[in-house]
Amino acid sequence: MTTRITLNPADTIATINPNIYGHFAEHLGRCIYDGIWVGEDSAIPNMGGFRTDIIEALRCLKPPIIRWPGGCFADDYHWQDGIGPRDQRPRRINIHWGEVVENNHVGTQEFVRFCRLVGAEPYFCGNVGSGTARELRDWVEYCNFPDAGPSGSTWAQRRAADGSPEPLNVTYWGVGNENWGCGGNFSPEDYCTEFRRYASFVRGFGKKLFVIACGPSSNDVEWTDRFFRKLNKDYWVFNNIDGFAAHYYCGTAGTATEYTEEEFYRLLEKGLEMEDLVIQQRAAMDVWDLGRKIGLIVDEWGTWHPVEKGTNPAFLYQQNTIRDALVAANTLNIFNRHADKVVMANIAQTINVLQAMILTEGEQMLVTPTGYVYEMYAPHQGATALRTRIETPDIHFKKSNILQTSWQSALQQGETMEGSIPLVAGSASLKGKEFFLTVTNSHAHEAAEVTVTLLGGARITQAKGQVLNGEIHAHNTFADPRQVTPQAFDVACQPDQLNLALPPASVAAIQVYLD
Ligand code: AHR
Repeated sequence: MTTRITLNPADTIATINPNIYGHFAEHLGRCIYDGIWVGEDSAIPNMGGFRTDIIEALRCLKPPIIRWPGGCFADDYHWQDGIGPRDQRPRRINIHWGEVVENNHVGTQEFVRFCRLVGAEPYFCGNVGSGTARELRDWVEYCNFPDAGPSGSTWAQRRAADGSPEPLNVTYWGVGNENWGCGGNFSPEDYCTEFRRYASFVRGFGKKLFVIACGPSSNDVEWTDRFFRKLNKDYWVFNNIDGFAAHYYCGTAGTATEYTEEEFYRLLEKGLEMEDLVIQQRAAMDVWDLGRKIGLIVDEWGTWHPVEKGTNPAFLYQQNTIRDALVAANTLNIFNRHADKVVMANIAQTINVLQAMILTEGEQMLVTPTGYVYEMYAPHQGATALRTRIETPDIHFKKSNILQTSWQSALQQGETMEGSIPLVAGSASLKGKEFFLTVTNSHAHEAAEVTVTLLGGARITQAKGQVLNGEIHAHNTFADPRQVTPQAFDVACQPDQLNLALPPASVAAIQVYLD
């Protein structure tokens, strides 16, 4: 059956916040050290300590925002350890990730510099679990208080002494990370009390900040309901909250590179559960946030496979195939379709950790299939999301031998379940006279015929496409780093219709010009 996609350029949802295409970079394994930072004295070409090849690659992937320094690491991070002369910074133990020694060589100034080099905004996650409200308040002052001159504040003067007389202008501030777990094991009510206290002291110094509260683990609606109930219940309405951040890892099925066709589909199905999360979390928020002022954020998401054999289990290093690219593409399509509520999302993580965009080995680096999805999807950033009607058959598959893991529910021996996912999924956006469509074909070995019909009288003058596809295990290695890369894709167009033949296991991006 041919898939039919129908849309009308006048039927808009909202502007797609570029921050939906955000990243996350934690002091974990080889993400920061080795991944982005090698130090000024390294033989690997670098710009003030940051790898030149990574900066160039990230500029193509266009991350608008990068969350830092964690993750779990954030609630044990004391920002004052990461300022001043590098050789005098304290050496701390990274208690969450392998108890390795953290030399603090990448601190506030370095990370902001890195963001500027790649064209991204920094998003700092504050320490609630083992920190103080004063620490967070002072961090904001260090970064943002404008006057660093003789009449300025001591923290601003300190920033100037560290190399930045001008404010670093950090807009996005998270109040803790996973405070239901590694960030302090709070109940929603207790975290809410802490959030109110901490956020009371996060001041803009003349600039509007964006303050983010810790949301649920996966789609835990109870956390959301109890947090907002508490936020709204006590004495005074609390306004210093702009975003509420859930985390959703869809986990694995098989391993990163070894899986059956059934496991291929099973992981795609788990990835698609992001849509339930968005719908149910936004409903839970809207009950309390009647003015719809608070944005939904997913500031950690992605696949989570068993680590690559022979690597440190605490470093979460995994390969990344066309299956991960499909998870990424489907997830970004979901965020685009909910652009009226989702204001930021940060895939975990930028380099060498979990569903990475880039992998490095010594001086070598490669862009993963997931990384290429970000490059292909970049035109959606800041465009207006369009409502898309997609009529497509389901792919049915059997789910057998599901083992009990933290991510999956158990089946009894020999028991099977049916699963299903849509064959084709997608999203569309409009910027001026350019209409942009991204679609996936989730079938492991069959092509999908797609007809796209444009309603409302707009006429297509030209269309061009790119496609990322491969055998379901296809991935890039250091020996063959360009095995999976976007290729030119033929699009047949008539004034009000496009015809696409999507290869099996593929992600396509189609740029359409209207008259
Ligand atoms: O991304 C890895 C870890 O996953 C983060 O540190 C934590 O927030 C989450 O549990």
